[in-house]
Amino acid sequence: MLVPAMPNDSHSWANFISQIQSANNTAELDSIEHAVFGRKNGAMTLAMQALKNLKDEKRKSQAKELNTQKVTISTALEERRSELVRPSEDVLVTQDALDVTLNLPHTKSGHLHLVHEFIAQVEEVFGRMGFDVHYGPEIETEDLNFTQLNIPEDHPARDTQDTFWIKEKGKEKHVLRTHTSPVQIRYMRSHTPPFSAIFPGKVYRKDADATHSPMFHQFEGLMIGKDISVANLKAVLITGLRELIGRDVEFRFRTGFFPFTEPSLEMDMMWQGDLEDSREGKWLEMGGCGMVHPNVLRNCNIDPEQWQGFAFGFGIERPLMIKHQIPDLRAFFQGDLRFLEQF
Ligand code: DAH
Repeated sequence: MLVPAMPNDSHSWANFISQIQSANNTAELDSIEHAVFGRKNGAMTLAMQALKNLKDEKRKSQAKELNTQKVTISTALEERRSELVRPSEDVLVTQDALDVTLNLPHTKSGHLHLVHEFIAQVEEVFGRMGFDVHYGPEIETEDLNFTQLNIPEDHPARDTQDTFWIKEKGKEKHVLRTHTSPVQIRYMRSHTPPFSAIFPGKVYRKDADATHSPMFHQFEGLMIGKDISVANLKAVLITGLRELIGRDVEFRFRTGFFPFTEPSLEMDMMWQGDLEDSREGKWLEMGGCGMVHPNVLRNCNIDPEQWQGFAFGFGIERPLMIKHQIPDLRAFFQGDLRFLEQF
């Protein structure tokens, strides 16, 4: 290595720079640094010490020159050191590479639960037909769950056998809502007709076996306007349910009874898919519907002479069980990933 004993012009300092730039490792850099800045015999150290022997003007200009060289050499050392310490691209590629195409075991993405996926579809399909979406509370007053819906005092649904009651002394009686119908009342009281809306959500009944769960889901629909008839009801329901369940599904309407509709209808569907043999070709009950009872409209300060409309209410798990051939309703709520990941 070429190290001038005591450089005193810029040419010699330039020698250090070129040595620094061509150093192959940090040990070489260390020895150059020592040759320049070493405390005892470093070229820069000696040159600084020699300043005191110079006369004023010369001393000043030499000091300035040395300082410039000091900065230049220090910078060159730093730069070359960081170049030597930084791993080369080859090393990075072979040793430190992150394979972003690797399928790691924990990167599986999830999806909506079957029930919520269906609710999202209901909201989307009826939304396209102009229906608003509204949610009510799951803890509901006895008044809204039953009385305002024209359900008589002695109706079996009011029995403790069928309904979860929440009783607190001195407070209005509450229930875990047994259906989504009370949301009709809430919606009609807070909106001015004409309107149409759907109300999806959880409902609760004292029932538990393979086809009944104490908690399940329903979606309710409501349309109120000036000239709404059963024909509109049928058109909206058939269009919506075909979109949700299948284009070639057949439906039929039967007369039924619900205290909050007059007339009341039941809607059945004929499922042609791969059902168990015993059910193949059978009519399956889907839900209830009808023209909103004048008493219910009056309970919401809507004049039945001016406004009329229809309502409907459907279970959500039932069509899913048929569509996916799920024999036990409880599978929906057990949270078993082996079940959920199939869909
Ligand atoms: N609430 C009824 C039930 O849970 C279903 C129902 C029937 C809702 C007729 C309606 C309707 O809106 O018009 O059994």
